[in-house]
Amino acid sequence: MRTPSFLQRVREARRVVVLTGAGVSAESGVPTFRGTDGLWRHHRAEDLATPEAFARDPRLVWEWYEWRRRLIATRRPNPAHEAIADLEARVQEFLLITQNVDGLHRQAGSRRLVELHGSLWRVRCLAEGTVTENLEVPLPSLPPYCACGALVRPDVVWFGEALPPGAIRQAYDAAESCDVMLVVGTSALVQPAAALPMIGKAHGAYVVEVNLEPTPLSAFADECHHGKAGEVLPQLLGSLMRPRSLTHNP
Ligand code: OAD
Repeated sequence: MRTPSFLQRVREARRVVVLTGAGVSAESGVPTFRGTDGLWRHHRAEDLATPEAFARDPRLVWEWYEWRRRLIATRRPNPAHEAIADLEARVQEFLLITQNVDGLHRQAGSRRLVELHGSLWRVRCLAEGTVTENLEVPLPSLPPYCACGALVRPDVVWFGEALPPGAIRQAYDAAESCDVMLVVGTSALVQPAAALPMIGKAHGAYVVEVNLEPTPLSAFADECHHGKAGEVLPQLLGSLMRPRSLTHNP
């Protein structure tokens, strides 16, 4: 009997989960965290992505987030984001779990998604805890304030903080109940996201990794595809993808 292809497995699956990390946005020109040019090579997370750093110097922290917002505002989803959005449209029970805060999955059309580490495009009032969408680029002043007069912070998860309980519960439930899990562009080093593929595998999911290079997950995955997500995913998903080459310039 022939081993089913990834596409066959997806077609036969009841539930599909996709887990993504910074690598999925790399081809859009968004820096990753740990690569040779990664953000954590040039910046200390302790100075920019912790509650203590924000308490010490909210302006400095906001300057860094403002820089990232400005950069990402000029970037567009790439074929990897599009392939994942297409996959969602073809699968009844689907969840995209992303560690990315850049919003590019939403821009590509993904709707059934959990943003485990929050979003750069939302802010949270420190006094009231209210979360609001904020797409203003540039922000009129730094640091920004809520109408109530309190400081607002980016609605992202910083080091030393717990993930939103609803988001992590949803992610665990999906990992435990999926038949296929596709893991794209993550170094699989940061918990609890890194545990999700193992949870999926332990519950019987077929785990497929797409990454430029091997990661700690590679040894456990059922299939590994080493290459650029924007090239590998459209190949893997082939006929499930919506045609996009129909438009052409006059
Ligand atoms: P990392 O920067 O740790 O890893 C990015 C991964 O993407 C690496 O394994 C690369 O090999 C791979 N990669 C790069 N370009 C790629 C491409 N074109 N196609 C496929 N793979 C590619 O990013 P994350 O795993 O997302 O958390 O990092 C996890 C978390 O650590 C982030 O969400 C962030 C960070 O600290 C917080 O800020 C809380």
